[in-house]
Amino acid sequence: MGCSALRVSELPINERLKQLLESEGVKELFPPQTEACKRGLFSGRNIIMSTQTASGKTLIAEIACINNVLSGRGKSAYLTPLKALAMEKLADFKRYEVLGVKTALSIGDYDSSDPYLHEYDVVVSTYEKMDSLLRHKPRWFSQVSLIVIDEIHYVDDPERGPVLESLISKVKAQRRDIQIVGLSATIGNPEELARWLDAELVVSEWRPVPLREGVYFKNRIVYSDGAVKLVTPVYSHPIYDLILDVLAEGGQALVFVNSRRRAVELAEAASRRMGSAASRELVELAEAALESSEVPDLNKRLYETLKRGYGFHHAGLTLEQRRIVEDGFRKGLLRAVFATPTLAAGVNLPARRVIVEDLRRYNPIEGNNPIKVLEYKQFAGRAGRPGYDPYGEAIVVVRREHDVDWTLNTYMLGKPEAISSKLNSPRALRSHILAYIASDGPVKAADLKEFLDNSLYAIQKSRESLRDSLNRVLDFLTQNGFVREQSERVYEATRLGKRVSEVYVDPLSALILLKAVSRRKKPSPFALIHLIAMTPDMPKLSFRRKEIELIERVLNEFYHELLIYPEERGDIDYELLLSETKTAMLLYDWISEESEQAITEKYDVGPGDIRSLVETAEWIAYAFKRIVELLPEARTFHTSFSVLEKRLRYGVREELLELVSIPGVGRVRARKLYRAGFRSLEELASASIWELSRIEGIGEKLARSIVEFSRKNLGRIQVG
Ligand SMILES: Nc1ncnc2c1ncn2[C@@H]1O[C@H](COP(=O)(O)OP(=O)(O)OP(=O)(O)O)[C@@H](O)[C@H]1O
Ligand SMILES: [Mg+2]
Repeated sequence: MGCSALRVSELPINERLKQLLESEGVKELFPPQTEACKRGLFSGRNIIMSTQTASGKTLIAEIACINNVLSGRGKSAYLTPLKALAMEKLADFKRYEVLGVKTALSIGDYDSSDPYLHEYDVVVSTYEKMDSLLRHKPRWFSQVSLIVIDEIHYVDDPERGPVLESLISKVKAQRRDIQIVGLSATIGNPEELARWLDAELVVSEWRPVPLREGVYFKNRIVYSDGAVKLVTPVYSHPIYDLILDVLAEGGQALVFVNSRRRAVELAEAASRRMGSAASRELVELAEAALESSEVPDLNKRLYETLKRGYGFHHAGLTLEQRRIVEDGFRKGLLRAVFATPTLAAGVNLPARRVIVEDLRRYNPIEGNNPIKVLEYKQFAGRAGRPGYDPYGEAIVVVRREHDVDWTLNTYMLGKPEAISSKLNSPRALRSHILAYIASDGPVKAADLKEFLDNSLYAIQKSRESLRDSLNRVLDFLTQNGFVREQSERVYEATRLGKRVSEVYVDPLSALILLKAVSRRKKPSPFALIHLIAMTPDMPKLSFRRKEIELIERVLNEFYHELLIYPEERGDIDYELLLSETKTAMLLYDWISEESEQAITEKYDVGPGDIRSLVETAEWIAYAFKRIVELLPEARTFHTSFSVLEKRLRYGVREELLELVSIPGVGRVRARKLYRAGFRSLEELASASIWELSRIEGIGEKLARSIVEFSRKNLGRIQVG
């Protein structure tokens, strides 16, 4: 890179900030950080950093955020792709409170401008939440003068990418004064990102801990530099032998596998075959897993593996379970963690050796396909803990001799792919164009064009095709009553359009709702849930052949209740119908108080999946409630969605809604209270503590607080 490292004391930043950094041991910048400074990070230049994992991107951006505030330029916003990362970030930013910099986390409901953020200097948020905030035109945003976008390579993602791209394009079109700092993994085309953002580019291969990459075949690791290491075949199993080998060096291993089932299977077998003696610390860690979800079987499996020094990690686990495994690994208690790729994108969890079991990924359409180099690099980037490991290692296991060279050349010596815009899809454009018109209207078609001209798509592909799409989307939005043409080529949102944009659903979801409401049929809970499952906003469960019969049976049973019959939906794909129905079935079981254990078995999902499906369904129920408010003829729908929203939140039948409003009383305890004859706050307010505390799962302390709460809140809790 050719520039000597800058010392913190030499930086053009606030003196107290310098002192704080130095007191934390940050005295000198890493080379990529130095480069970013020299290119104008602290003098307002837009910057793209496309550098290795752990090369200090996040820290230098954090410093820029704080300095921006301390130098009086304005507020800073820090955006991450995941809520979990945003929470981690909040904790990091809290360190600067001693300097008087106040940080807020904003990751909650999508229908709010969060006016309280006005009081804060730094706002940490996710892409989607920030996008939804801007739809409400918050006043505080006018004071934001720096936006950091962590993991900006997410613009490549078909789902999340368009949100991020339209957010950035809008800021570029409307607020040229805002400094944008984008942090990216190493990608094939960082120049394009920089050109898009009119940014200075920092590219570097530097890593704080050197990385060795290699391929494992028949007891030999062949490294990319040509070196070879023999591994003793103790277990005659590539993964276990590689783990044992790194344990012998005093390191830990992170093993990436292709499926959840595989992660659990390998962790269990490892703990049986090569588990450590249960130390007191390990037992403590494992015991935390026993109450970590409502699914005893899963808790037990996690407990058994943790006790012997191994863990598994995937998106089906609850956040609590994932945290237990991550903490155990970070503290060095666990020898290895078997994880699905979700781990690579999320938390910071470095290991001496990263092992990748399989570089192919199954996809229902194309079968097995090699993963992207970009993805492999994310796995490999986890190798090497700064301050602990002299180097990190990424080892890929292959099964055939000729895969050795191919893997070395493609993944280790090859370049990661270029990232490309995913903005030009009807789904993305109809939402984001409507959002633009709704929050800024009336809007000239020319302004919309400018907004799109500021996208990455316009740079990479073509402006013309985006403009064609714009015209089609404007027609769609006008014809369906979301916007109207106020005068020649000037558009404004209708009340409906404004509401749809604010509650953050796809306009197509709103159309499905309107069609259902027009039926004037009394909606049953299953019908509403099925309607939610039909929308493009709801992720859908896949199904196996052997499940078809059951799904069809349920579909037939509830057929007469449906608000929109399948045959009315044109040439709807039968598989999609089955997926929607299966998704609806799970949600229906949830609000019918089926146990989480039963649901996980019946649908082959984890508690983490239940949580995320339910959260999305609850948000759509809320959004639909807010949309039907605009339709006086749809009162029954309004009440029904309102009740459904709460039933989804708590996973209960309607009769328990009053009881679950009590702190410490969830779906299980509420049902026990109900069975014991306590069916309302009124009945609880006059209950005897002794009687309540005899109910299983309710001790004396909880009994006291239940009675106290019931007395205080009598008549205040509104159901529905
Ligand atoms: N100049 C520095 N001096 C000492 N430690 C540093 C310095 N810069 C960063 N670090 C530390 O190095 C680690 C990695 O830094 P950081 O998280 O900023 O990297 P990153 O490039 O954002 O990594 P990732 O790709 O994982 O997001 C952190 O623990 C951070 O505190
Ligand atoms: Mg980072």
